[in-house]
Amino acid sequence: MAIGVFDSGVGGLTVHRTLVARFPRADFVYLADQANAPYGGRAGEEIVDLTRAGVLRLFEAGCDLVVLACNTASAIALRRLQQTWLPGYRRETGRQVNVLGLIVPTIEAATGLPWEYEAPTQSDRIEMNDVIGVFCTVATADSRVYEIEIAKRREDIAVFSEACSGLAGMIEEDASREDLMGVIQGHADALRARIGRAPDRAILGCTHYEIVADLFAEALPPGTPLINQPDATADALERYFARHPEYPMGESGARRFLTTGKAGQQSGLVETFWGAPITFEAA
Ligand code: DGL
Repeated sequence: MAIGVFDSGVGGLTVHRTLVARFPRADFVYLADQANAPYGGRAGEEIVDLTRAGVLRLFEAGCDLVVLACNTASAIALRRLQQTWLPGYRRETGRQVNVLGLIVPTIEAATGLPWEYEAPTQSDRIEMNDVIGVFCTVATADSRVYEIEIAKRREDIAVFSEACSGLAGMIEEDASREDLMGVIQGHADALRARIGRAPDRAILGCTHYEIVADLFAEALPPGTPLINQPDATADALERYFARHPEYPMGESGARRFLTTGKAGQQSGLVETFWGAPITFEAA
């Protein structure tokens, strides 16, 4: 038994790295759908179909639990798969499989509230004194998931999403840090202009961006807190395993890396981030 971790490409490794550190004895299979990356500019139905195919591949590789280490897939596909596909798959196979995303844990970290929390009816005096900027893909920004779900829970937090079209693709293609900085600075400035001031906190709402988190930190006013999505996801998974001991996570510390793209070693950016070369097998 193993924990599956899925992303369109290398971005999910940022979450995977934290999960591996948190559950060192667990077995993991990581799947990058690099043949179809990036997802962020694709239509919703395509994102649902690609995510379903990736999750199925991980179920077939022996994972009963899959973490979508991808905001785009979590925002667009997760609920659909949980409601319309998983129940049938469980019936047909008799396996108690499940899929979790990372937006719920990120919103819990941003609001400081459990997901189940229901805000009392809105007060007359709404003062938004905490502004969160979310850097994400076009599909995630269009879904407005961060705006909607945070507003349901905390009326004092204003959320502004900044769609960074093409940035995940640049990271996937190992762009230079200089080129990446130019694009990131442009988006940080655009966000600031839209809000009318700098955000108080930021979410790197695309897991690829975490690979260059230092460039985002540089582009934002010094000390702007970044809400840490990998930590939030690992915390949520820990709570999930405590509630669901029926999901064995394996205990041999096995690590497999699969890609639907070109097998072999990953880019320099990824290697620098990971601290060692990672070799992917063909999915
Ligand atoms: N890393 C993914 C995310 O968190 C997807 C990026 C993409 O494929 O466009 O949104």
